[in-house]
Amino acid sequence: MIDYVPISHRDNQNGTKIFEILMPRFGLGVWQMDDDECKSSIIHALDNGYRLIDTATAYGNENAVGEAIRSSKIPRDEIFVVTKLRRVHATGFDETISQCRESLQRLGLDFVDLYLVHAPPENISVRGDVWEAMEACLKLGLTKSIGVSNYGIEHLEAMKEYATILPSVNQIEVHPWLQRLELRKANEMIGAVTMGYSPLARGHKVTDPNLASIAQSIGCTPAQAAIKWVYDTGCITIPKSSNPARIIENIDSLNIDISDVIEDFSSLDESYISGWNPTIEP
Ligand SMILES: NC(=O)c1ccc[n+]([C@@H]2O[C@H](COP(=O)([O-])OP(=O)(O)OC[C@H]3O[C@@H](n4cnc5c(N)ncnc54)[C@H](OP(=O)(O)O)[C@@H]3O)[C@@H](O)[C@H]2O)c1
Repeated sequence: MIDYVPISHRDNQNGTKIFEILMPRFGLGVWQMDDDECKSSIIHALDNGYRLIDTATAYGNENAVGEAIRSSKIPRDEIFVVTKLRRVHATGFDETISQCRESLQRLGLDFVDLYLVHAPPENISVRGDVWEAMEACLKLGLTKSIGVSNYGIEHLEAMKEYATILPSVNQIEVHPWLQRLELRKANEMIGAVTMGYSPLARGHKVTDPNLASIAQSIGCTPAQAAIKWVYDTGCITIPKSSNPARIIENIDSLNIDISDVIEDFSSLDESYISGWNPTIEP
């Protein structure tokens, strides 16, 4: 059973919560899925209890996400849709708003539930303008909440200089081999919930023998142990699978109790980055 976490935006001046919405703590990531794969995986996932879909303009499948949502039996208001402003488009105020509208058009939706800046804009001088536009997207009702992705501690600190409201979420890579205690703490300090991506380190770590032995000792699959570890840290987790059996295997991880072996996960941390790491960029 998936639980929900309240996500909220804090007023940057006085720290008060502006408002709060509920977000499922588990969902399906759809990166590297072509349109057919994306559509069938989402329909299958929704049929099996998933209620959160994580896409991005950069994934090229927002159209398919929208089609899947429309053809599923689940009402729109029960599905939490996340998409992201592509880094190359994060160039200024007007561009950010028009990119958000274009995402909605591709998705065929009136609003998304969470709109994220995919990574800190490369041009440092436009970061404030881009965030101001994200705040405007929120006010215009194009999205129910706004956040960032791949922001490191310094990027979050800098937001205090230019933000009116602080992000509700920071989506960063988190898994047993990259536990990121400090960055997770920094998210918490500004009131942002950590959304952990690549819980299986893009699949690179599913065959790790240390993980296999933890999983064997509690009678689950290695992927389930890794996903449940991310979930039990309090992060939102969004494993990607386009394999119908694994889509079910992954949500079933929520029923697994890892409390007896939680200490064993500490030794897996090796600061392993599975792909890119904009959190350490200037
Ligand atoms: N914000 C960002 O910069 C960013 C970056 C990366 C990812 N993300 C988001 O996070 C989501 C998840 O991350 P990810 O796609 O990088 O990788 P991931 O979820 O860590 O791993 C996906 C890989 O593991 C395989 N897999 C899934 N379930 C499995 C299982 N039960 N047993 C064995 N193998 C399994 C998948 O293959 P099959 O499909 O064949 O099952 C796929 O190859 C993405 O889809 C995306 O939404 C965001």
